[in-house]
Amino acid sequence: MSNPYPPINPAFSRMLHGGDYNPDQWQHMPEVLEEDMRLAKLAHVNTMTVGVFSWAALEPAEGRFEFGWLDETMDRLADNDMYAVLATPSGSRPFWLSQQYPEVLRVTPDRRRNLPGLRHNHCFTSPVYREKTTIINSLLAERYKDHPALLVWHVSNEYGGECHCELCQEAFRAWLRKRYNDDMDALNRAWWTSFWAHTYTDWSQIESPSPIGERFLHGLVIDWKRFVTDQTLDFMLHEMKPLREHTPDIPITNNFMGTYPGLNYWKMAEHLDAISWDAYPMWHQPDGNAEMGCATSYNHDLNRSLGGGKPFMLMECTPSNTNWHETCKLKRPGMHKLSAMQAVAHGSDTVQYFQWRKSRGSSEKLHGAVVDHVGHENNRVFREVADVGVTLEKLDDVVGTAVDAKVAIVYDWENSWAIGELQGLGKENRNYLQTTRRHYQRFWQRGIAVDIIDQSCDLTKYDLVITPMLYMLRENMAEKLRAFVEAGGTAVATYWTGIVNETDLCYLGGWPGDGLGELFGIWDEETDTLYDGERNAIVAEADNALGLIGSYETRELHALIHLKGAQALASYKSDFYAGRPAVTVNAFGKGAAYYIASRNDERFLDDFYTGLIATLNLPRAIDADLPRGVTASCRTDGRSDYVFVMNFNDHAVSMALNGSTYENMETGESIGAAIELEPFGVVMLKTDAKPTAGVDVQVPRDSQTRPTG
Ligand code: GLA
Ligand code: ZN
Repeated sequence: MSNPYPPINPAFSRMLHGGDYNPDQWQHMPEVLEEDMRLAKLAHVNTMTVGVFSWAALEPAEGRFEFGWLDETMDRLADNDMYAVLATPSGSRPFWLSQQYPEVLRVTPDRRRNLPGLRHNHCFTSPVYREKTTIINSLLAERYKDHPALLVWHVSNEYGGECHCELCQEAFRAWLRKRYNDDMDALNRAWWTSFWAHTYTDWSQIESPSPIGERFLHGLVIDWKRFVTDQTLDFMLHEMKPLREHTPDIPITNNFMGTYPGLNYWKMAEHLDAISWDAYPMWHQPDGNAEMGCATSYNHDLNRSLGGGKPFMLMECTPSNTNWHETCKLKRPGMHKLSAMQAVAHGSDTVQYFQWRKSRGSSEKLHGAVVDHVGHENNRVFREVADVGVTLEKLDDVVGTAVDAKVAIVYDWENSWAIGELQGLGKENRNYLQTTRRHYQRFWQRGIAVDIIDQSCDLTKYDLVITPMLYMLRENMAEKLRAFVEAGGTAVATYWTGIVNETDLCYLGGWPGDGLGELFGIWDEETDTLYDGERNAIVAEADNALGLIGSYETRELHALIHLKGAQALASYKSDFYAGRPAVTVNAFGKGAAYYIASRNDERFLDDFYTGLIATLNLPRAIDADLPRGVTASCRTDGRSDYVFVMNFNDHAVSMALNGSTYENMETGESIGAAIELEPFGVVMLKTDAKPTAGVDVQVPRDSQTRPTG
């Protein structure tokens, strides 16, 4: 029986360990290139990411190519039993290119053309830039298609940003004509342009949002952001074409940036073979690491979910400090291994770094790296990296295993854009992303697996779906949620749900719209926004089904709702809406739909989810009470469970186990009674798979009858 998923590239079935490698910067010092190979072995590194910003080295003048140094690099990697994650160079462009073809330079929203320099700044529409990337990508693919070192393609680097040049304006207009079937009236209606006399009478009148022009027409702004994603995707597909042609079996990835707001990664993800991302958490803040640990796990879960559950790649992380953080804190001893294993725990089959060796000059010369300017292996950071390498070599069994989540939290990029644009909810305290994370934290602290999905995803495989602040409904989400609950699922929604449709038009006839009022059994009449520091409270109803007790403090956002079939679990304490329902549950079909009308304190979320987790009997990674700041995550192949227990505290913790025995995957010892974790400690444990752990990862689980709470 094989593991649920194949390795990132079946040619190599171990965890990948390596980093961004720039031999092009060291060609004048050949001894460094030899030394890199010696050090890589000592660091237990098996892959290097090469070529990310190498365009000027590969094509020093238009049409003059120099592949010699890359040939040598690829050969050297192969000779040393290592692999290449080979990048296409479009992330940064040579000066000759923009000098010769200024159209490749990006234009800012205020319509100024950038000067050459920096990176990640090309026009994604420019035919010249596209032609030049096709040429270089084709040459790379033809040249290395049979090279034994080629393992993964890394297209470009961290796609992002937008261009407002005339070529992009034309492309935007064409995109709109397609979206609205060439029907100007349909666009005008969808954007409600009769407001402020903004009716368009010709497609040529449409301009992208600008600080010197239109920027309040929400339908326009949201569509522009959709266009930016689609045009970036189009550019990515354009880059991928020659790679697919010459190397159909080499997986392709592009490194994402967590919840980077500028691109809807769900649209890009479906075209990539492997999802990868670059993680730079700000560890060691004055109040500790629990919050950052939780936020980082959230991003790992998002990236696993973007790939439909398959293992992802931690393409970049720093072995030490990150030079662009406000405070460039060193990773404390232990944190590197903990954060590396955290990625694996949540589904990564790689631990890769930015960067292998510190550059000697320019802006990243002081960014953490495996090899420092001192040039040898006798330093703390190198030792910690090598230690991670040794550990990864003991995790062969984990490659290709799944994280089986029964809970999904919806974080939807387009909803986040819409919440960002709207006027009418206070300016500072919308906090959509943070709100989804606050819900997530209740599961993190109990070691319960969660997928982070968007509205385009299938819901049927979950027991519990949580949709905080789902202001904009799209992708038939209301219908999917209703069907999900009807079949026995449990849904949780909050204030500010179901207000607008996908072109940002408010639902008529009562909120939450599109049939969600019926699902939640409520009518959300109006929303009160409080000043900072202002508080209200909600009071639990006696003997409520979730075990909420006493009163909980509330802040910022309060929806004034009416019961339309739902039952109140708590009500407001003061103000003119005292006594009105504040937390409700509605039985719908075989399932239950909960509505949380106000932004409540942490204790509320703890109690609410404690009740729900017990009601739904949600599985935990490990049968133990986790101390504060400790989390656990389980990967499974259906026969064995691989449980990662992680201590984000700077002090040791000890936790009792409730019966099961485990094998420590690093030491081979058997563990039965208790687990001791050092400060920033992590243990990897193997045990028989829980009978409930599903590995039918491709097939949605039957929706059985679930308790209705
Ligand atoms: C990003 C980039 C890298 C490097 C690192 C520094 O992730 O992809 O090239 O600049 O940041 O943290
Ligand atoms: Zn452009």
